[in-house]
Amino acid sequence: MSGDGTNGLWFGHLSERAQRVGPSPIGGLMVRALEQPALISLAAGFVDQASLPVEAARSAVLSALAEPEAARAALQYGTTAGDVQLREQIARAITDADVAALHANNPDRLTAPLNVPRAENMLITAGSNQILALLAEALLDPGDVILCDAPTYFVFTSIVKGVAGRCIGIAADEHGMRLDALEAELARHAHDGQLHRIKAVYVMSYFDNPRGVSLSAQRRAELLALVERYSHNRPIYVIEDAAYRELRYEAPDLPSLFSYDKAQKFVIYTGTFSKSFAPGVRVGYGVFPPDLLQVMLALKGNLDFGSPYLNQRLVSHALSDGLYEPHVALLRSVYGRKAACMLDALEAELTPLGIAHWVRPRGGLYVWVELAAHLDTGEQGQLFARACELGVLYVPGEPCFPEGAVQRSCMRLSFGVQSEPRIAEGIAKLARAIREQL
Ligand SMILES: Cc1ncc(COP(=O)(O)O)c(C=O)c1O
Repeated sequence: MSGDGTNGLWFGHLSERAQRVGPSPIGGLMVRALEQPALISLAAGFVDQASLPVEAARSAVLSALAEPEAARAALQYGTTAGDVQLREQIARAITDADVAALHANNPDRLTAPLNVPRAENMLITAGSNQILALLAEALLDPGDVILCDAPTYFVFTSIVKGVAGRCIGIAADEHGMRLDALEAELARHAHDGQLHRIKAVYVMSYFDNPRGVSLSAQRRAELLALVERYSHNRPIYVIEDAAYRELRYEAPDLPSLFSYDKAQKFVIYTGTFSKSFAPGVRVGYGVFPPDLLQVMLALKGNLDFGSPYLNQRLVSHALSDGLYEPHVALLRSVYGRKAACMLDALEAELTPLGIAHWVRPRGGLYVWVELAAHLDTGEQGQLFARACELGVLYVPGEPCFPEGAVQRSCMRLSFGVQSEPRIAEGIAKLARAIREQL
């Protein structure tokens, strides 16, 4: 039997939508890394293994099951929207973070109204990726457009492609999405009478995947004003993906884009406990403008009528029992060291070659390296093959680019999983492979 169309046996029975969904762009890399444990994978976006919160998770799950009545509730189906106590805790945490960030960055704005999340506008999901997938269903008809950074999170572009939508890339620099480029794209669509096709702008506002860059504080307010200006009869949404917000080790926190949305009409805020606690627990969340929430609830109702409730109670206890914050503090120091290790190795190995450029990430899990344009980093190219031979794996840049100017000379390196000695060794091997191509 083949569902992949190779012998056509089942292909004709599949929906057009199923036929559009291709294999994961990095699925092959994951298999390779698992099959060859000696390979130093700087590819996977997995989190640090050694610091996974075993004790905290054990303690939180015991708390969730300690009292029989509460334990039975935790082992029962929950509501589609998710545990109300957890939603309230998350709403409070985002509000506290935004107020603190405003104090630190822009105290003048404290006198202006601040959009704050409310539990009733929130949905808990099994990871924030589920929010992105549900949003694609909620917003996109075939041919509809999402504007996003070039490069961007390749799983998101794949989700959009799966519903026959289009991701159009907007140029980005070390301060995040360039607003002149965003405005040019909005204006082009307006000029062509196609503005109604643009349903949202997707922004990873904190330490993005793959570049580790945050949208600057100034651009946050301006981006929202721009989107409001082009939202003529209906909103162009801003999907603010804050997956890496907590993983900052060198930068102060910034107020969310969501906090600027006084009309509560434009910004959808998504977050996750996968990076800041444990992906195996897989709890994510989204905050929505009220009208969109009803649609999201209906879609999630069809999908699973609520995410695993025990996991939600576990996270709720991790937050209320004082287990979460110390863990995040630990992660900041672990990733801070790993990032420094990778940056030092890149500096030592690649800077002398004079053909590589990267922006120093101040949080997140990735370094994005741009090589000279003639160096092809693609999976079929010589550099990739040689790096694998030498025992190091990276994510080629190409799948990270949405429609628009695709660059074939970039790579995403993750410092999440490997130990510091293996990161240094991996970069040395990579540099050797690059040197051989020169
Ligand atoms: C930018 C971004 N958003 C969302 C996710 C989804 O994470 P999860 O579904 O585990 O919450 C990821 C995972 O790597 C990510 O990199």
